[in-house]
Amino acid sequence: MKKILIAFSAALFMISCGGPSGGYQPGESEEAGEKATIEDYDPHRGEGNFKDYQPPAKLDATMAANGEKVYDLKCASCHKLSAEMLVGPGWKGVTELHSPDWILNFMTNTDEMLDKDPKAQAMLEICMVRMPNQNLTDDDAKNVYEFMRKNDGVK
Ligand code: HEC
Repeated sequence: MKKILIAFSAALFMISCGGPSGGYQPGESEEAGEKATIEDYDPHRGEGNFKDYQPPAKLDATMAANGEKVYDLKCASCHKLSAEMLVGPGWKGVTELHSPDWILNFMTNTDEMLDKDPKAQAMLEICMVRMPNQNLTDDDAKNVYEFMRKNDGVK
């Protein structure tokens, strides 16, 4: 009985904090009306150095392994690899939720994106913790992205 209760509350938590089935609607932010208020901001790409990033066609195992090291050190305290929320949303399915550029720019430009991006702001409202900038280099970010792809079943 206890187990069931725990599983149930975990599921509730998940729903409450923007997992893949979460509380905000991807795409909602891309309405023309929103764009007019935030000029020059592209909610598909986010804000930062990354533009039209093409991940390797096949999973790059070395990059993913390096990304996992960064994850263990800097992200695991707040992000689970399942869809379950910890402090931030779980990462299962995250690569299907946002474009590669959005994720890479969020990782490397967290503060600006939290200030400007409708999807990031919706998450912030639900999670109520502002993700601190993790000072990732562009290479770290690419490696973590590759690790996220691995976690999402890319081979
Ligand atoms: C102190 C807790 C914390 C740490 C550490 C942290 N994050 Fe976050 N992260 C969050 C929170 C909270 C959110 C939701 C947005 C918000 O409220 O700021 C988030 C959101 C995200 C998102 C968007 C997720 C989605 O489902 O749309 C990505 C991507 C992300 N973080 C990557 C990272 C990476 C990469 C690291 C490690 C280098 C990291 N985070 C470390 C708290 C954290």
